[in-house]
Amino acid sequence: MVLSQSLLVAAAFTLFLAYPAKAVGGSSELQNILKNTHKSPAYNYPTDFTRGIVPIPVHSHNDYWRDVPFYTALSNGCISVEADVWLYDGTLYVGHDESSLTEERTFESLYINPILDVVERQNPKSRFLTAPTNNGVFDTSTDQTLYLFVDSKTSGPETFEAVIAALEPLREKGYLTTLKNNKTLTEGPVTVIGTGNTPYDMVGPVGDRDYFYDGPLATLSEAENAGITSLISPIASTSFSSAVGELSLGDSQAVLSDEQLDTLRSQISFAKEKGILARYWDTPAYPIRARNLLWMTLLDEGVGLLNADDLAAAAEYF
Ligand SMILES: *[C@@H]1O[C@H](CO)[C@@H](O)[C@H](O)[C@H]1NC(C)=O
Repeated sequence: MVLSQSLLVAAAFTLFLAYPAKAVGGSSELQNILKNTHKSPAYNYPTDFTRGIVPIPVHSHNDYWRDVPFYTALSNGCISVEADVWLYDGTLYVGHDESSLTEERTFESLYINPILDVVERQNPKSRFLTAPTNNGVFDTSTDQTLYLFVDSKTSGPETFEAVIAALEPLREKGYLTTLKNNKTLTEGPVTVIGTGNTPYDMVGPVGDRDYFYDGPLATLSEAENAGITSLISPIASTSFSSAVGELSLGDSQAVLSDEQLDTLRSQISFAKEKGILARYWDTPAYPIRARNLLWMTLLDEGVGLLNADDLAAAAEYF
């Protein structure tokens, strides 16, 4: 290399280093303001806790398995979470099985209190309000309800009774979706749905309540389930692998057979006609191409909620 060339290279290199990686315009005074506004109350607003989070029709599968249950789902925009609850001496504990239970992990500590806190933040009291608000957890979409699936693992009647009682802090503030006189549905920030061992008889026949029942998606069209309306089951679910079957993997992509697609289509469209959102659990999380093909197909067919284990991937998918 001749001297002039190497000088040129050195000069270019220095220039490169001196330049910021990503240029943001404006004077240094403006830059200073942009950096320091967070210290001033004028640059916060009361309901900014979930600012910028776009809600997505995704159910946080086994939500309590996450490092931070509920909040992780919320931060990814999931509109649905799920707690498995176990009743011991009047307290509801949260976990997948008995050996995962601890004194600290309760329905109250992991779900009721955090959800109440977020809904309170979204409904601040101030002199600017001309009427009480009933905002949901998402600042970008205040009328989006949060579905809280409560999966009773211990004996249904006793456990669900305890679930109903545990909802009191949310009920007291008027934050639950309610049914009155068996006909008037008022959507609130939180919609509770009993699943697992929840007895149908504690929900279906009750005309005044603030909890709902996870309908049986695969058998919704059968005569014995003719009475299940969207006022009883806003959502109906079934296991994908048992209702539709396993996906087969082609050379480059996963494949649903025509028969599987027909099954899926008829289940989703039947639910839809009744105003019920369809949800499949036990959907493949792996391989990724199978998961993604299924997500795409389910959305194309009009499924209500996608079931996701990897919430960040789901948030990126939308
Ligand atoms: C409420 O409506 C459901 C669905 O039609 C019915 O099964 C139930 O018996 C009704 N309950 C009351 C109290 O009328």
